Amino acid sequence: MKRILTGIKPTGTPHIGNYLGAIQPALGLAKGQSALFFIADYHALTAVKDPNKFRELSLQVTAAWLACGLNPEDVIFYRQSDIPQIFELYWILSCFAPKGLLNRAHAYKSLVDANRESGRHDDDTINMGIFNYPVLMAADILLFGADQVPVGSDQKQHVEIARDIADSVNHAYQKQLFVLPEPIIQKDQALIPGIDGRKMSKNYDNVIPLFADEKTIRKRVMQIQTDSIPMADPKDYRVCNVFHLYQHFASEEAIATRKAQYSQGGLGYGEIKKELAELILAHFSACRSTYDSYINAPQQIEAILEEGAKKARQIASGTLSELKQCMGLL
Ligand code: ADP
Ligand code: TRP
Repeated sequence: MKRILTGIKPTGTPHIGNYLGAIQPALGLAKGQSALFFIADYHALTAVKDPNKFRELSLQVTAAWLACGLNPEDVIFYRQSDIPQIFELYWILSCFAPKGLLNRAHAYKSLVDANRESGRHDDDTINMGIFNYPVLMAADILLFGADQVPVGSDQKQHVEIARDIADSVNHAYQKQLFVLPEPIIQKDQALIPGIDGRKMSKNYDNVIPLFADEKTIRKRVMQIQTDSIPMADPKDYRVCNVFHLYQHFASEEAIATRKAQYSQGGLGYGEIKKELAELILAHFSACRSTYDSYINAPQQIEAILEEGAKKARQIASGTLSELKQCMGLL
C-alpha cells in the first residue's frame, strides 16, 4: 500500500478546473491506499491576508472536498495549522536546505525576475514566507512518510526540493529517516480552459465556480468564447473550449454524436452550451446540497478536521521523536 499525501491551498473559491485537475484525480489516486489530505492554510497565508476572506475560503475549500467525495473515514483529512510538529520539522529542515536551492525555486525566482524587469529591488514585496515556502512543503510531506504526492505541474519542483532535503538528512545521519517522495503530475493536456480559453484560474476571472447558484453557472457557460465559423460549416472540436469541457461531463455516446456534428457542420454553439450547462448542474447537484449543508454547519467541518488532526498528530509525533533522537535532541 502506498502513502498518498497532498495539500490543498485555500486561496480561491473552488472551480471546475480545480475539480477536474486536482480533486477528482487525487480522490481517485487515494482509493485503496493510505491517504492524507490537508488544508494548507499556512501556505495560503503568503497570499490571503484578510481574516474574513481567509476563514471564508478555508470553509469553502474544505466543504468542496467533502462534498466532492472525500470520505474522512477513508482519508486522514486535517488542517496544517493544527499540527504543531509540521512547524518544528520546518525549522529542522531549514537547517538542511541549501539557500541556493531555494533561490532557484520557480515561484520565488519569477517574483525576483519580475522585480528586475520593472527596475525594482530584487527583494521588493517578497517576504520570507514566499522564500521558505518549499521548506514548509517539505515538512508537510516528509513528516508523514508520503510515497506519492499528487500535484499540479507548477508544484513538481517543490516536491523535488522535498526529495533533495530528505536525501541530505538521510545522508547526514546515515539512516533512512525519510521516505523520498515522488510527485504525481496531471498531464498538461488535462488543463481545463476557462471561459476565455486561457487556463481556468481564479487569477483570470474566467472560472466556472463549482457551487455557484444555477443562474450564475448557466451564465458563465453561455459566456464561453467560441470562434465565428458559421453554424452550417464544419468545425474542429479539438480546439473548441466548449467541447473541451463537454467531454468531461457528457456520455460516450453524446460525445461521439457531437464530434460527428462538429466535423459535418450544423452545430450551433448556443445549443451545445445549453446542454453543457445542464450537464454541469446535474453532475454537481448531489454534491451541491452536501456542500450547502457543510457551509451552513461550520462546526461539523471543525469536528471532522479535529478528528483528522488527532490521527495526523499521532503519526507526526512518531516521526519527529525518531528524528530528534537521531539528531541528539532527545
Ligand atoms: P488557480 O489556478 O485557480 O489559482 P490553484 O493554483 O489554486 O488554482 O490550483 C489548485 C489545484 O487545481 C492545483 O492542483 C492545480 O493544478 C489544479 N488546477 C487549477 N486550475 C486548473 C485547470 N484550469 N486545469 C486543471 N487543473 C487545474
Ligand atoms: N503548494 C501546494 C499548492 O500550491 C499546496 C501544498 C502545500 C502541498 N503543502 C503541500 C501540496 C504538500 C502537496 C504536498 O498547490
